[in-house]
Amino acid sequence: MNLLNVLKTRYTTRAYDTTRRIPQETMDQLLAALRYSPSSVNAQPWHFIVADNQAGKDRIAASTPGVSSYNTPKIKDASHVIVLCARDVLSEDYLNEVLEQEDKDGRYENAEAKDGFKGARGMYVGLHEKAGDVAAWNQKQVYLAQGFLLLAAGMLGVDATPIEGFEPELLSKEFGLKEKGLTPLVIVSLGYHAEADNNAKRPKSRLENDVIFSRA
Ligand SMILES: Cc1cc2nc3c(=O)[nH]c(=O)nc-3n(C[C@H](O)[C@H](O)[C@H](O)COP(=O)(O)O)c2cc1C
Repeated sequence: MNLLNVLKTRYTTRAYDTTRRIPQETMDQLLAALRYSPSSVNAQPWHFIVADNQAGKDRIAASTPGVSSYNTPKIKDASHVIVLCARDVLSEDYLNEVLEQEDKDGRYENAEAKDGFKGARGMYVGLHEKAGDVAAWNQKQVYLAQGFLLLAAGMLGVDATPIEGFEPELLSKEFGLKEKGLTPLVIVSLGYHAEADNNAKRPKSRLENDVIFSRA
């Protein structure tokens, strides 16, 4: 697999082939891309809602009325759809849950090492609490996961559409996200493009290297 080729050929799919479904084995790899994404202090401040049937996709698509209705078919016609949500806060209980998982996974040689990392993570979380930007900090981590998902999809030959054009309040209400302390940030549709997708053959456009890179 040639990475440059994947980078240049993956693209935002505008129309899906409703007859094609992503095999479970491929879906498992895509979900692993989300799960194994990096996050600051390994906080993993996310939750992902996966729709693998029409009813689930329709529930998500209901958040694209009016001006965002151009996105409705991209959700309804895709094979699978994932809503990427961020945690609104990082509670003591949640941070302990992460710590215990790390311990279970063998990250700590002894109690001292475990305590040490607990303190370091708590210090960073405390700084963000003080600055009042924990929610924004968490959301940045979720966008990293989105990047992992989109690249993984490209590598696995799966087409994808990142979608911010939806009404978060509607989606939040449909899935009771506010009560769960979650904010929906972006929807990613996954599947295989339809013949009619006129975006499939358009050339990519990006700013030139000398505009976006400079030497230190
Ligand atoms: C966070 C994010 C939100 C986006 N929202 C939408 C959207 O609501 N609808 C849509 O058709 N495309 C959406 N896009 C796709 C972008 O327009 C697209 O990624 C960009 O034009 C670059 O094209 P490419 O993905 O084909 O390389 C979104 C992309 C990102 C990364």
